[in-house]
Amino acid sequence: MEKYNSVFILLLLLNVLTLCTCISLKSLYLDQSNRNNDLVLNCNFQLDSDQQFQGMEMRLKNKYYYFVDSGSLKEHYESSVIDSSRVIEHSPLYNTTTKYGNVRNVISSASVSNDFDCLIYFSAGGVPGFNQSSRDFVPDDRSIQTTLYVYNQVRGTYKVGDDVSVHCDYRLKAKDFLFDRRVYKDNKLFYRYVNKDQKYFIAQSGVDNVRLDSDANNTLRITINPNVGANSETGGRYKCQVNYVTPDGLDMNSTHESTLQLAGFKTILPVKLN
Ligand SMILES: *[C@@H]1O[C@H](CO)[C@@H](O)[C@H](O)[C@H]1NC(C)=O
Ligand SMILES: *[C@@H]1O[C@H](CO)[C@@H](O)[C@H](O)[C@H]1NC(C)=O
Ligand SMILES: *[C@@H]1O[C@H](CO)[C@@H](O)[C@H](O)[C@H]1NC(C)=O
Ligand SMILES: *[C@@H]1O[C@H](CO)[C@@H](O)[C@H](O)[C@H]1NC(C)=O
Repeated sequence: MEKYNSVFILLLLLNVLTLCTCISLKSLYLDQSNRNNDLVLNCNFQLDSDQQFQGMEMRLKNKYYYFVDSGSLKEHYESSVIDSSRVIEHSPLYNTTTKYGNVRNVISSASVSNDFDCLIYFSAGGVPGFNQSSRDFVPDDRSIQTTLYVYNQVRGTYKVGDDVSVHCDYRLKAKDFLFDRRVYKDNKLFYRYVNKDQKYFIAQSGVDNVRLDSDANNTLRITINPNVGANSETGGRYKCQVNYVTPDGLDMNSTHESTLQLAGFKTILPVKLN
């Protein structure tokens, strides 16, 4: 029985430890603005489907001056931090069932200051005791862009023989693990880049060869048919994809597509012969 208990505690600890490094709210943002001489604070937060809201605090210099009990929705003030009479407007908009909340405070005679923050308490996957401050929330600013260049100029059209290159610009979160980058033409993979020793090319229509120009600063740059230039089949939909693993171990990818067209290419209408 004792053995069973310690194994259970160890598993629980491991679970909590692994959760702690990666659990964060879906979004959390404290908006601060001035209205006459008053400070308007808007805390917006969103929870993931497996997270439960447990409480929130509005804080000044790491001390709460206002909080709402998540059960009774009763408001509380800590007047030693900010006198309750200075919180001239307040509205908590959330309940324990919704995944989205907004808390608005208007504080008299205050100005925009970085000393304010919003702290959310929550449970995740049934484990209670998590909290997150609007200060620590890192927004998801992952992005990817496919840009097509003709002779180093951003273009959507080309002529046979032109120097065409594809740039994949992407941004991941600092703790993401970058797995590989892929480039597709008309949804067919032609280039896969893991690192300088692991790169793979598969010819596709209009793409007989590629040259790797650079892999630095979150940009992968390749030139299509480097020796002869683009041919009449090179036009099409180019798609960059970045494959990565999130800190909580999920395989993810981001993609973006851009189109390249042969210049002056028109649909040839049937000529009427008399
Ligand atoms: C929670 O709030 C949402 C809208 O914000 C509302 O539709 C829902 O009925 C509320 N649930 C409870 C239990 O009050
Ligand atoms: C928030 O959680 C961290 C990590 O569990 C803990 O160290 C900290 O005391 C908590 N902060 C508050 C204000 O409860
Ligand atoms: C990457 O960015 C740094 C700083 O902006 C710059 O000095 C460097 O030349 C860039 N490298 C490449 C290959 O573009
Ligand atoms: C990219 O993600 C989508 C779902 O968003 C998935 O269907 C697809 O298989 C992923 N592709 C790769 C190469 O992992």
